[in-house]
Amino acid sequence: MHCGAQAQGEVPMSTWDRYAPIWQQKMGVDGDYWSREIFYPSMMELCGDGLPGRRTLDLGCGLGGLSFLLEAEGLDVVGVDSSPRLIDEAKRRAEAQKSTVKFYVADARNLSLPGHGTFELIVCNMALQDMPDANRAMQESARMAELGARAVFSVRHPCTDGWEENYLLEQDLIFPLQEEWQGVTEERLYPPRHHRPVAYYVNELIASGFAITRCAELMSTPEPRGHPLALVLTGVRTT
Ligand SMILES: C[S@@+](CC[C@H](N)C(=O)[O-])C[C@H]1O[C@@H](n2cnc3c(N)ncnc32)[C@H](O)[C@@H]1O
Repeated sequence: MHCGAQAQGEVPMSTWDRYAPIWQQKMGVDGDYWSREIFYPSMMELCGDGLPGRRTLDLGCGLGGLSFLLEAEGLDVVGVDSSPRLIDEAKRRAEAQKSTVKFYVADARNLSLPGHGTFELIVCNMALQDMPDANRAMQESARMAELGARAVFSVRHPCTDGWEENYLLEQDLIFPLQEEWQGVTEERLYPPRHHRPVAYYVNELIASGFAITRCAELMSTPEPRGHPLALVLTGVRTT
């Protein structure tokens, strides 16, 4: 078994909120090295050419780093995150830079936002692995999206994150939250996350009503020496 990994049920939503100050410090203003150099530019490319005003939903938006980049491309962005503290900071940043991105505290798996069926682009960067029942977030994405809308979802790569025990395990493996805050490393404080095989994300995206249009693997450094950090699936809502 992976060190400390265990099967669990629902993860309290407050775990990311507790981690928020560390995340904010780690991400700084423009995102940490990985976000700035790898995740955000790749997500932007995979989102494809924007249309001005294209209605975009950023699920698990955190501090809004990707939301602001999408807005800078002319998109009309709504960002949601379950952490009130991260959303407060995202709103503060939006106000400071006169951004029109609208940020809401919401569970991506149970959205009560206006405008369902109207979004033209749904993005979710590195957040599905942090959610129990991530398939519900994909189903909610389909509900919020209009027919033909594009979805771009990235997760920590299932082959390199928590694969040690059994890569194909269907059950969720959760790296438990370290409850002891004193004297533990930042990585051990990281909120619990779920390892699931690639097939889970592929099949749940299809089952949610998206036709998969592309798969990308983001490397830690240029190939061939890097290792895959993230898996990205893009899809189009067809049903
Ligand atoms: C690794 S961070 C990524 C943040 C952001 N997407 C970015 O790229 O900077 C994961 C985010 O998912 C959010 N999250 C976790 N579970 C969630 C849920 N059920 N609904 C909405 N957001 C959630 C966390 O609060 C956190 O901000």
